[in-house]
Amino acid sequence: MRLKGASVLVTGASSGIGAASARLFARSGARLTICARRLDRLHEVADQCRHAGAEAVVVRRTDMTRPADVRAFVAGALRDFDRIDVLVNNAGVGWRGRFQDMPEDALRTLIETNLTGPAVAIQAALPAMLEANSGVIINVASVVGFRATPYSAVYAATKHALVGLSHALRGELSGTGVKVCAVYPGTTRTEFRGSAPPADGPFVHRAEQVARAIVRTARWPRRDVILAPYRLAHLVEPVLGGPLDHLLGEARRRALDSPGDRPPSGS
Ligand SMILES: NC(=O)c1ccc[n+]([C@@H]2O[C@H](COP(=O)([O-])OP(=O)(O)OC[C@H]3O[C@@H](n4cnc5c(N)ncnc54)[C@H](OP(=O)(O)O)[C@@H]3O)[C@@H](O)[C@H]2O)c1
Repeated sequence: MRLKGASVLVTGASSGIGAASARLFARSGARLTICARRLDRLHEVADQCRHAGAEAVVVRRTDMTRPADVRAFVAGALRDFDRIDVLVNNAGVGWRGRFQDMPEDALRTLIETNLTGPAVAIQAALPAMLEANSGVIINVASVVGFRATPYSAVYAATKHALVGLSHALRGELSGTGVKVCAVYPGTTRTEFRGSAPPADGPFVHRAEQVARAIVRTARWPRRDVILAPYRLAHLVEPVLGGPLDHLLGEARRRALDSPGDRPPSGS
């Protein structure tokens, strides 16, 4: 995929990985349509994209839990740029804690933001992509999409579901020219964990690192994009999955039990 002049849609572009991806697509000469709920932050990102010489449009405040908002976002991109070359389903939320303590509204918000919203965006974008016989859909999953971590059960379920959606659609769309890819960030330093961002370390990505993987995936679409050093975890998962469930459960139980170490969301 040639990115110069390409019409690229990024959800959840008001911060973190989405904002970094929008800026990087802009530097490649793409024409951007971006969305999120925080309009002030979104307009800042759009301005940064324009400073890089790109066209950038904020259609409206978009809440991924509202299908009508999501469809209006995609329709706005089509109205302004007349085509959709890349859709990056990046918006997402987490929740960490004991599964049985999770309020039902948090459970619904996670599913609607991390799964229903992306699915609706794909349905809205597909007709234009199919008509053009081309397009790249990039779903931002997580390492939790192949290694479910205890105390993030519903978040892990949504990311597994997003991976399943990606793989199944990839088969359904084979031969159409539309590619579907899943990108699996590991722990990344963003606002995702609220006031408890992860400390720097070999297992912690920067948003720009993940953004580079996303832009590379748009250029050269691949089924699954796992960033180092998490590729090893993917390889050992089928063999060590069972023992890892217990080890991670124990480690997270200790972390959640220690006072002052209770992050608001899951990775
Ligand atoms: N950070 C990590 O450790 C990590 C690890 C693996 C995967 N990921 C995934 O990476 C993606 C980006 O997360 P991030 O780390 O960049 O976190 P972030 O900085 O918190 O960004 C999340 C983005 O999603 C948007 N968003 C959340 N709920 C939304 C809703 N209901 N409607 C519209 N937009 C919504 C937020 O915008 P508004 O609040 O303005 O709406 C924000 O732009 C997520 O899918 C996350 O699951 C993150």
